[in-house]
Amino acid sequence: MEKLAVRRTRHLAWAALLAAPAAFAQDLPITPLPASVTLGTGDFTVRDGAAIGIPEGDAGAASAARLLATHVKAERGITLAPRPGAAAIQLIRDASVAGDEAYRLTVDAKGVRIAAASDSGLVYGAMTLAQLLSPDRAYGKPVRVRAATIEDAPRFHWRGLLMDVARHFQPIEEVYKVIDQMASVKLNTLHLHLTDDQGWRFEVKRYPKLTEVGAWRTPPSSGGPVGPRHGGFYTQAQLKALVAYAAERGVTIVPEIDLPGHAQALAAAYPEFSVFADSPEVGHDWGVMPYLFNPAPEGIAFIKNVIDELIEVFPSTYIHLGGDEAIKDQWERSPKVQAQIKALGLQTGNQLQSWMIDQFGTYLAGKGRRLIGWDEILEGGLPASASVMSWRGEKGAVEAANQGHDVVLSPAPLLYLDQLQSNLGDELNGRLAVQSLEKIYKYEPVPAGINAEKAKHVLGAQGNAWSEYLITPQQVQHAYFPRAAAIAEMTWSAKDRRDFASFLDRVQPQIARWRRSGMEVADGAFAVGYTLQGSRGDALRANKATVALATQAPYGTIRYTLDGREPTAKSPAYSAPLTLKPGVTIRAAAFDKSGNLTAAARAFDTSRAALLTRTTSEMTACPGGSLYLRVPLTPDATANAPVYNIDLFNTCTAYPAAPLDIARGFTVSVARLARHWGLAHETGKRRDQYPATMHGELVITARCTAAANDKTIKPIVIGSFALPDPATAPTQFSFSGTFPQMQGDEDLCFQFTSPVSAPFYTVEKVVLTEGATK
Ligand code: ACM
Repeated sequence: MEKLAVRRTRHLAWAALLAAPAAFAQDLPITPLPASVTLGTGDFTVRDGAAIGIPEGDAGAASAARLLATHVKAERGITLAPRPGAAAIQLIRDASVAGDEAYRLTVDAKGVRIAAASDSGLVYGAMTLAQLLSPDRAYGKPVRVRAATIEDAPRFHWRGLLMDVARHFQPIEEVYKVIDQMASVKLNTLHLHLTDDQGWRFEVKRYPKLTEVGAWRTPPSSGGPVGPRHGGFYTQAQLKALVAYAAERGVTIVPEIDLPGHAQALAAAYPEFSVFADSPEVGHDWGVMPYLFNPAPEGIAFIKNVIDELIEVFPSTYIHLGGDEAIKDQWERSPKVQAQIKALGLQTGNQLQSWMIDQFGTYLAGKGRRLIGWDEILEGGLPASASVMSWRGEKGAVEAANQGHDVVLSPAPLLYLDQLQSNLGDELNGRLAVQSLEKIYKYEPVPAGINAEKAKHVLGAQGNAWSEYLITPQQVQHAYFPRAAAIAEMTWSAKDRRDFASFLDRVQPQIARWRRSGMEVADGAFAVGYTLQGSRGDALRANKATVALATQAPYGTIRYTLDGREPTAKSPAYSAPLTLKPGVTIRAAAFDKSGNLTAAARAFDTSRAALLTRTTSEMTACPGGSLYLRVPLTPDATANAPVYNIDLFNTCTAYPAAPLDIARGFTVSVARLARHWGLAHETGKRRDQYPATMHGELVITARCTAAANDKTIKPIVIGSFALPDPATAPTQFSFSGTFPQMQGDEDLCFQFTSPVSAPFYTVEKVVLTEGATK
């Protein structure tokens, strides 16, 4: 009965869509949305064991067929069998399908045909069919596909992700997995950030120390013992195999060697090619380091030799040579570099950087390649040979495109995928300003300032997953997925056809496919978050908590329980804030139209003890600061470690509106992290604190925000606790104390006064208690 009802509803939905083809296209389980869909009549059922016909001797079609079979096996659990000749599912080479990434997919009662002129067109047709064959969560079942003709081609040819394998090395198998899942949503450019201060990952046969020395770093210490060295590199043979694998999936790998800054690993390996030959260690600090590459003739020759090996391995048209964040201090301090600037008739370090970029741009052009660099390469005048990747907002893209250069958009923070995706307390490491699925989806890659006739210079856009804080493969995947689908649709689909509500419907089956393929996919956009109405003190004083429930993405029906059980599709639907006696735990999740969970349930505990506790995610910045990083306890943790929200310029966090009329005692849990940031020109922003005791102390004050805003108000010192010797103390410890008698809510600040050269302390959790804490 129930099955019939479902089929009937589906049928009605299809009938409605027949009348409205645009709406129909949006209901297909396809991400990114195709350029056009025309419905036919009838349908075709694909069953386990169905053959995929391949034109005789067509290697590209054979590869697309294998890819189709692999995805359908993983995503639907049915086996398709590629074989030469004719079959009901047929790949066809058709020169009339115009466009180098275009395809036509036709479904009728007799079967499915995928036609394309190019190999990548056949791959994209295959990926669309794989999605049509996994429209829901049914696994191992035949799939009925409605008759339709899909004509499809992308809006942009650069649809990318950046993988930073320099800061945290990823085993090559992990890069393969990302390529597989890029292909599933027709992303076609993997920008591999292969070198940085903290590691050189590309084997260069002529300069073996680049990887023997430059690929390994000693992690920074938080005062205790130093962990094992971190690192790794890829051989040229490994990378050639990776490039070939990616190419079969329509993915081009664009390698980046970052110059002249972010060059500390290079300087560690070959001091003679750095400015002062002063043999630094491979970097273990994040941020901007002073080490620059040496622009003298021997340095230029060295890089050309590296480029020769790089282009042997990577056939991509574009070669990325970095150019970002190269503070010019070393060039300014070097008489030799200053003499070179003069001899070249230049005035500034930025102009020398432009000269250098032109040397390499011209060199690459002579080999049929093109140079792309970060937008700083505009600063000394952009050489004709260069294209620009805009990261400091869109300004660089606007300027470069209007000058007639090709550009790629990856503006920070929006398209920086190490930014968190929700404000839930269980988010992993990263940067705190939330870049939601919706914000990324709605990004328009052609910035308003680009003149209409120059818009053709926008090659596309990419999302960058920088890996200072993304350590494990799962953390990297979590940063990519599902936002990669938003980037795919933003760069593939026509601007006027994009629609976030429709995307949310279509991204759900894609999330299921990624999970079936073993990927870690973030569910923060779909998870239920809780907002306590009024202050915690209000709830405690009234002995009732009013809690609002919401999901970040407007999708699904929120259902909840109050009895500790997991919510199901039959649990009560949430419609308005819940007012509860403290002591109840709410568990809630959102469910889609078919009753599937869209994210794991999250809980909210209304007990008095929970209302009096704030964890790191619930702490705020102290006056004048901002918490903007979420960092792990250990810099190279090989699994999810505890994470802390911090302001790296100020070792202080606040518990806002602590109910000090109610709380009598407190326990503050403290974590000791490595202080490992190269602040370069931002050092002056750091708030230096001066310790009264050997290793510094934790000073707790109340009324700290009011006092910071109004000098006539005095903060109240609650306590000062000497910090233990970092060489011997554990990395997590706690202090307890009692409050003086006070009235109402007060902000509490937790300020560490440790020396700036020492470890970085932060608060893990503050527990206030109604009785005195022992
Ligand atoms: C960058 O984020 N430094 C390109």
